[in-house]
Amino acid sequence: MSESSEMKPFLQTLDGQLTSRPPLWMMRQAGRYLPEYREIRASVPTFLDFCYSPKLATEATLQPIRRFGFDAAIMFSDILVVPDALGQKVSFEQGEGPRLAAISDAAGLAKLSDQINLEKLGPVFETIERVKTALPADTALIGFCGAPWTVASYMIAGRGTPDQGPARRFAYQNPDLFQILIDRLVEASIDYLERQFVAGVEAVQIFDSWAGVLPTLEFENWCLKPVLAIVAGLKARVPHARIIAFPRGVGSHLKAFMTHPGINALGLDTAADPRWAAAEIQVHKPVQGNLDPLALIAGGRALNDSIDLITNSFRGRPYIFNLGHGILPETPIAHVEQLVARVRKA
Ligand code: CP3
Repeated sequence: MSESSEMKPFLQTLDGQLTSRPPLWMMRQAGRYLPEYREIRASVPTFLDFCYSPKLATEATLQPIRRFGFDAAIMFSDILVVPDALGQKVSFEQGEGPRLAAISDAAGLAKLSDQINLEKLGPVFETIERVKTALPADTALIGFCGAPWTVASYMIAGRGTPDQGPARRFAYQNPDLFQILIDRLVEASIDYLERQFVAGVEAVQIFDSWAGVLPTLEFENWCLKPVLAIVAGLKARVPHARIIAFPRGVGSHLKAFMTHPGINALGLDTAADPRWAAAEIQVHKPVQGNLDPLALIAGGRALNDSIDLITNSFRGRPYIFNLGHGILPETPIAHVEQLVARVRKA
């Protein structure tokens, strides 16, 4: 273990060590609930312009650290820069979310590049380098990518959908084509995450936000196998890589990841019962989660009770306090302050 990780509670926890208090960060901790983010976001026309500006992305990454002193910063970017760097047209429409040139057949798939264009993602790596020099000594830096299934689901639908129906249909009807897309994303993700480590991240999180819509066989083929392939490929190139897997909504399928040696911690969504997770998952691996972002919006006693269930369930073994999904734009800052104060006392 490197000397610096001994000073960073977040990394110690990922290494399986129990720290005096649980490290804390929040998924989507940089973003629209912060007035200082909204202010700098207004300085460029599109969200992708923002992601590809190292100056703005660095500032957005650091804003929540300055305000709340979280134990980890997450580089400011988006999971959909990967399709962008594979040659698919990606944009973000104001108030509507992502729009991609949907892939509906073999011809659409053939338009993608064979390999991810890491030069296009140069601004992301520059952001990592800049953030690294500006972070407090005890704050860790997290990189990330979307898991192949989640990224593929946007590539096929061309937009967000309630249940990723278009990608599920496509995968059932064209399993061979879908496998090509998944394999492409596995390779792209390994290349991308490797470069993030070279640039300076100390851990990465693989977001499988839409894993929960997959039935058992599809979970195994499109979530579990590709994520484990990324873990194996990344560890072969970056042996010290620390990895958090977050297959959201998979319930007891979480156990399939639990004993995999390359995964340092497992993310828990809001529906995971912390008492179940403590007994069934945390005995094997550190866990991260799982506060409901809506409890954070509610604040008051609902928030305190939710925090206490999590900290009381996981105390005694390594865990990372986090939300069970990204923070929502309408979250009052005072409630984040309430959260930070209470978790610090846990
Ligand atoms: O602070 C952080 O966590 C780092 C930044 C980050 C963003 N997106 C910034 C963002 C991270 C880690 C993501 C991951 C991401 N992006 C996921 C996986 C996690 C999850 O939330 O499920 C997914 C599915 C996406 C795709 C995506 N990006 C969608 C569906 C949207 C539109 C919905 C929305 O929240 O607006 C985005 C846009 C996006 N990504 C914004 C931010 C701050 C909002 C755009 C803006 O500020 O103009």
